[in-house]
Amino acid sequence: MEERILSGIRPSSRLHIGNYLGAIKQWIELQHRARCFFMIADLHAITTPYEPAELQQAIRDVALDYLAAGLDHHKVTLFVQSHVPEHVELAWLFSTLVPVGELHRMTQFKEKSTKASLANLGLLAYPVLMAADILIYQAHEVPVGEDQTQHVELARVIARKFNAKYGQVFPEPKTILSGGKRIMSLSDPSKKMSKTDGGGIQLDDSPEVIKKKVMKAVTATKGGEGNAGVMNLFTLLKEFSDPTTYRQFLNAEETGTIKYAELKAQLADDIARHFAAFREKRKALAGNHRYLEEILSAGAEEARATAKKTLDQAKQLMGLA
Ligand code: TRP
Repeated sequence: MEERILSGIRPSSRLHIGNYLGAIKQWIELQHRARCFFMIADLHAITTPYEPAELQQAIRDVALDYLAAGLDHHKVTLFVQSHVPEHVELAWLFSTLVPVGELHRMTQFKEKSTKASLANLGLLAYPVLMAADILIYQAHEVPVGEDQTQHVELARVIARKFNAKYGQVFPEPKTILSGGKRIMSLSDPSKKMSKTDGGGIQLDDSPEVIKKKVMKAVTATKGGEGNAGVMNLFTLLKEFSDPTTYRQFLNAEETGTIKYAELKAQLADDIARHFAAFREKRKALAGNHRYLEEILSAGAEEARATAKKTLDQAKQLMGLA
């Protein structure tokens, strides 16, 4: 069978350059070497508090970011999870194979359910739905960040159990770890750059906004363990500036002659330049509402064709058809 890859991203809010270096860039590379299914995981997004009135826009924003960054909808199947209801049906079938205790032990569940109000069944079942997302396309590989590896492991366990109990349907999916460097917040470099903090640079921030955020980046040392803020700026410089520039600043840092304002100005320019084409493309795409709808609806249709085949096979083996 052809090599298949599936991954998903929650439409929590706008993507920042940490997401870009961690995930988007990798998806864009993967589209050239395998049959890729990339989905926007709206059904996972609703397992934690969210704003219903903003969800559709959040979904569109993620889709626009991926397309503008270079995801080719002719090459990959790009779709919204809830448009393919077969995932949920397969998740129900899988739920009969998973001991509840195993779900209670998942790290993400333990972290997110600390507030009693958050411990809903959907959050507990989150990894089962994720297993269905992956296995319904019989994916061989799943590119995810470190925090999701435990969930992919559960998908393997479910595949193994299903195959042993009912018959061989599912390959055991492997994780492709997005090796992306950890990009820290510019305003608080002890924390990861996140979707909500003010120290995050969004992919379509204007050059002026990028400059403002970078110039304000914290470089003063906090605590004893090296200077996280400066290190973070160097990580970004390495990604976005040319190697000679990077070496010059590194040299200046080592000899103590560095002026951080110069480094920041250079970095801001280089980040702004790196995303110039992205901003243009995104603007053009965002202006054409209908076009995006068409891409996502064609993606869902394509996805459903594959998903339905797998689901039918699973139901048949389970005596449901
Ligand atoms: N849970 C993933 C995250 O939080 C998103 C996701 C949903 C996903 N379904 C998936 C990732 C299937 C990989 C495969 O990032």
